Amino acid sequence: MQQQLVVVTGAASGIGEACAREFARQGATVVVADRDLAGAQRVATEISGHVVAMDIGSEQSVMDGAAQIFERIGSVDVLVNSAGVLQRTLPPSQLSMKEWDLVANVDLRGTYLCCAAFGTAMSERRRGAIVNIASVAGMRSGPLHSYGPAKAGVINLGECLAAEWGPKGVRVNTVSPGFTATPSLQKGIANHTLETENMSRSTALGRLVNAGEIAAAVFFLASPAASAITGVNLVVDCGYLVATPWGSYGGLRRN
Ligand SMILES: NC(=O)c1ccc[n+]([C@@H]2O[C@H](COP(=O)([O-])OP(=O)(O)OC[C@H]3O[C@@H](n4cnc5c(N)ncnc54)[C@H](O)[C@@H]3O)[C@@H](O)[C@H]2O)c1
Repeated sequence: MQQQLVVVTGAASGIGEACAREFARQGATVVVADRDLAGAQRVATEISGHVVAMDIGSEQSVMDGAAQIFERIGSVDVLVNSAGVLQRTLPPSQLSMKEWDLVANVDLRGTYLCCAAFGTAMSERRRGAIVNIASVAGMRSGPLHSYGPAKAGVINLGECLAAEWGPKGVRVNTVSPGFTATPSLQKGIANHTLETENMSRSTALGRLVNAGEIAAAVFFLASPAASAITGVNLVVDCGYLVATPWGSYGGLRRN
């Protein structure tokens, strides 16, 4: 990753922060792009990276951020889209369209805006790699009526853009994390939406994923080691998807 310029959205916290640290550790120059400027500055200082203020919920903000990066820092080799917001687990009768729109706007539309801004430039240079962070929530049902469909959209978007830009030398892949120990998950635990023991018990490996494990998968997909891989959705979930159907048969054989 020497000499590579890597932009990570949502890099002020959680999975994005872990990705920024992993790429920096491997020798890349990292742009920490986030709407949380204080958090972005903290991470960028620690990894000797650049900070760019970007709210992916706004087309103008993404355009301005991308223009700033191209003018001030250089051409982007890798884009990681980790910026995202979670949703409260409300039934449709209580989930306002305002909340539904906010989640879909950031998680799906925002991911597309960033792909369009940076991927178009990559396709003109005829090289680059994009990794979008979706979720296992986009692959199965759950009480997340905006977040789930938005993440399913991110998975499909990865396939669409992989086919669009493959002929131009740009690879686009997706990583779908399961329950991952991050500040946003902690918030869900603190407000009793989620419970650590329940989440851990629902995986084959019996634990939460840590953010560094997601970063390792993202790094792999963006690296030359994955040069023939495009359009895939790599699940990193400690075996959540394979374990949950076993609940119908009394659960996993733990002993
Ligand atoms: N933690 C999990 O269990 C889990 C599981 C599956 C998928 N994910 C996905 O991983 C990604 C990162 O989640 P996390 O758990 O690290 O969350 P986090 O809250 O710790 O970090 C999210 C970061 O995104 C930034 N962000 C949010 N909205 C933004 C916007 N509009 N513009 C720019 N930056 C914005 C926040 O400021 C924050 O720095 C999200 O896309 C999330 O949906 C997380």
